[in-house]
Amino acid sequence: MARPKIALIGAGQIGGTLAHLAALKELGDIVLFDIAEGTPEGKSLDIAESGPSEGFDAKLKGTQDYADIAGADVCIVTAGVPRKPGMSRDDLLGINLKVMKSVGEGIRDNAPDAFVICITNPLDAMVWALQQFSGLPANKVCGMAGVLDSARFRHFLSLEFDVSMKDVTAFVLGGHGDTMVPLVRYSTVAGIPLPDLVDMGWTTKDKLDAIVQRTRDGGAEIVGLLKTGSAFYAPATSAIEMAEAYLKDQKRLLPCAAWCDGEFGLNGMYVGVPTIIGAGGIEKIVDIKMTKDEQAMFDSSVSAVKGLVEACKGIDSSLA
Ligand code: APR
Repeated sequence: MARPKIALIGAGQIGGTLAHLAALKELGDIVLFDIAEGTPEGKSLDIAESGPSEGFDAKLKGTQDYADIAGADVCIVTAGVPRKPGMSRDDLLGINLKVMKSVGEGIRDNAPDAFVICITNPLDAMVWALQQFSGLPANKVCGMAGVLDSARFRHFLSLEFDVSMKDVTAFVLGGHGDTMVPLVRYSTVAGIPLPDLVDMGWTTKDKLDAIVQRTRDGGAEIVGLLKTGSAFYAPATSAIEMAEAYLKDQKRLLPCAAWCDGEFGLNGMYVGVPTIIGAGGIEKIVDIKMTKDEQAMFDSSVSAVKGLVEACKGIDSSLA
């Protein structure tokens, strides 16, 4: 059986890391696409040359030609511009919307059966635009944010409790922005919900509130430290987790930006929700119950995403 084909659109910091991880995990053959001449070719060759030492089997190719992504099983999109210090994800809107148009059309014309994972920010609006421009079924186009935001939350919680990150589960919903909703009630250490851990004296509500805020600011914290770009190791790892769930039909329950039409009371829009990812793409949206407070936070996140989508429609009339 032929190896799966993984197309990475954008060969920058995240794209290169995605290629390296996909090769190390032998998820398939990899095509790195970028408009910057030499970058995808150079990164592909460099990673391929690490193969003999690492002992993986994967073909890598760098390209500026969309024809090379033909028949891809998975496309992961990072094409666009990342944040600089002082910029919000939303500041990227106008530039990255144009990029989504060319990428969406490239995928539509060359890899219409692919499972598409968008990483480009502002995420919830860009994944929506990518689905619109590509015309692929909504269950095959999703955005990577919830896995990353939850991973950041899990990491901070593991530091607070001094336990293995493996035993911390966490849930972050809503848009991938300042209004994201880390759900404390659904987050646990080996099944013990965080509110119970407060009652048990393992932490305090104030400390938990600070961790929630640090999670919301997780991307900005990295941008502030790096100064010349945004996070790439954890975003790439999160998207690879989603790609693997699809390619291996794992039926993982992962939060991601998915098309909700009816679920969570939403009327056709992309936002971060719990999903099941398997061979059918986004196979199910897990419509969990929220308390009044959680619902209010989710609603405000949803309106922030709606505002960005409206802004996209204002910029590109073909989306209206
Ligand atoms: N088609 C293909 N590639 C493009 C296009 C395009 N139209 N426009 C830009 N690119 C490429 C750039 O040449 C660059 O190599 O996208 C790549 C982006 O890489 P980086 O600038 O290193 O950005 P990265 O850190 O990888 O982040 C990419 O993901 O998390 C988000 O906010 C982040 O939107 C940003 C994206």
